[in-house]
Amino acid sequence: MSSFSIYLLTFALLLQTIYGASPLFYFCSSSGNFTANDPYESNLRKLLGNLYYQTPPQGFGFGSVGRYPYKTYGLALCRGDVEAADCRTCVNDASTKIRERCPYNKGGIIWYDNCLLKYINTDFLGKIDNQNKFYMWNLRNVSKPTTFNQKTRELLSLLAKDASATPKLYAAGELELEKSKKLYGLVQCTRDLSTSDCFKCLDGIIGELPRCCDGKEGGRVVGGSCNFRYEIYPFVTA
Ligand SMILES: *[C@@H]1O[C@H](CO)[C@@H](O)[C@H](O)[C@H]1NC(C)=O
Ligand SMILES: *[C@@H]1O[C@H](CO)[C@@H](O)[C@H](O)[C@H]1NC(C)=O
Repeated sequence: MSSFSIYLLTFALLLQTIYGASPLFYFCSSSGNFTANDPYESNLRKLLGNLYYQTPPQGFGFGSVGRYPYKTYGLALCRGDVEAADCRTCVNDASTKIRERCPYNKGGIIWYDNCLLKYINTDFLGKIDNQNKFYMWNLRNVSKPTTFNQKTRELLSLLAKDASATPKLYAAGELELEKSKKLYGLVQCTRDLSTSDCFKCLDGIIGELPRCCDGKEGGRVVGGSCNFRYEIYPFVTA
């Protein structure tokens, strides 16, 4: 698994509304393969079933199933503003799609707008994932990049402080730009992290703003433990 960059195209968003949610991105892990009828597969199926039931009520679920060497660990996280029913749909889509894309890999991770799902054969819970990450950005440039970049960093840093001071490890908010224009932001961590690791994770990806989204109207750094998104239009359900 490694870092990657992809574009956020208006076209992709259009397709998404027509055909239903499609994944933003996924990685299959190189931590090993299993074969058909391997005990790992039944453990994984059980784990994904548990995550499907556990995640929607609170927006987060995690756990492990089985015994070494067939033990599997996983988590699912829905975006902080997503309702239980949409969360359930997203976790279900994510499980199906990642098994389709990574049929014999012991690990995989997949992201949607509404959720993240991850599993692997090693205990990753409670640790910051620095490996799985991708960038998205709007192709459009802002007219005053220096000011805009500052404002973006300011908003996301404020949100990172807020998020890591709440049990939900999630925060969304906005900032006045100029003349009735606003900047909208969201940050979130997986809830297996401590509040201090959540802050550390967010602080790290906010530091990647210049590489990801310098002077862009919108952008995201999306990782396995934390992510942020900012746009010049509202995208969070109040
Ligand atoms: C796992 O399977 C893929 C193809 O599906 C193969 O390229 C890879 O070498 C395999 N890895 C191991 C560790 O066997
Ligand atoms: C944005 O700026 C970059 C770098 O200056 C340029 O290459 C790109 O074409 C611009 N994009 C648009 C949509 O104007």
